[in-house]
Amino acid sequence: MHGLSKSFGRVQAVSDLSFTVEPGSVTGFLGPNGAGKTTTLRMLLGLMQPDSGTATFDGAPYTTLTAPLRTVGAVLETAFHPARSGRNHLRVYCRAAGFPLSRADEVLAQVGLADAGNRRAGGYSLGMRQRLALATALLGDPAVLVLDEPANGLDPEGIQWLRGFLRHLAHDLGRTVLVSSHLLSEVEQTVDRVVIVGAGRLVREGSMDQLRSGADGAGTVLVRSPEAARFADLLRADGTGVTSQDGVLTVTGTTPAEVGRRAFAAGIELHELRSRTSGLEAIYFQLTGGSEQFAAPSPVAQEATR
Ligand SMILES: Nc1ncnc2c1ncn2[C@@H]1O[C@H](COP(=O)(O)OP(=O)(O)OP(=O)(O)O)[C@@H](O)[C@H]1O
Ligand SMILES: [Mg+2]
Repeated sequence: MHGLSKSFGRVQAVSDLSFTVEPGSVTGFLGPNGAGKTTTLRMLLGLMQPDSGTATFDGAPYTTLTAPLRTVGAVLETAFHPARSGRNHLRVYCRAAGFPLSRADEVLAQVGLADAGNRRAGGYSLGMRQRLALATALLGDPAVLVLDEPANGLDPEGIQWLRGFLRHLAHDLGRTVLVSSHLLSEVEQTVDRVVIVGAGRLVREGSMDQLRSGADGAGTVLVRSPEAARFADLLRADGTGVTSQDGVLTVTGTTPAEVGRRAFAAGIELHELRSRTSGLEAIYFQLTGGSEQFAAPSPVAQEATR
């Protein structure tokens, strides 16, 4: 996406949004309700004309792709003819796209709907509809998969299955997977990278590791030791910041490796040693929370895009 903007009347849904999604990884497209995710994906898929900017696949807009179903599989909204079976729904697409009809059964099996293929889609549960929509997107075995809130309606087992499936597509088959969600917790174990938007603007772009270490707890280490008091004195002696509570030391401005080295050198027994990161959800709230921070791209966003 390059400089994408779109407004609806007075609502600026997407505002000068630029980011890149790479093959071989799962990218989470995150933001609260109304942040502009679906609008962005609709522009990406040629379903809506941007006011300005471009959205391309390897440089080509969706509408110019010569084999769109083989290039991009997308799930935006799930609408099926209710009287048609899942299998027939897929066969219609196969016929239209020139794929062998047997592809229908292959993708049904891939998404775990083999047994329900002959049932009418109108009787499918929400999770089953999601699976059928995903099966439709997979028909052309596309290089790029774009999914808008695919975990919606899936049960915990379905979410776990989807997680493994998307990671397999990206990591083992080298596909490009872009998956949107308004819940970080829903995709946190699925995605390698995140693009976070708020009020139509880019708030943050980077790897999950970068997001985690961007927490306000970065550089803070928690230590549990039966000799906490002695260790705290030792650390304080050279100016390291330490607070102590119930045998747990909170050491600031350092790393677990450094604290471990100091403990080892002093022969101090440790029972626990770890970085403190604030919960990802807290970081996500921090990034997308206040509305005023979206008046201009935050320094964090600028840092992340650089
Ligand atoms: N067709 C439309 N006409 C008018 N306003 C629209 C239209 N589509 C989206 N909007 C507005 O644009 C903004 C962004 O909406 P969008 O659906 O892209 O958000 P989203 O990030 O997908 O949210 P959600 O997490 O709820 O799916 C919202 O304020 C929405 O009301
Ligand atoms: Mg949406």
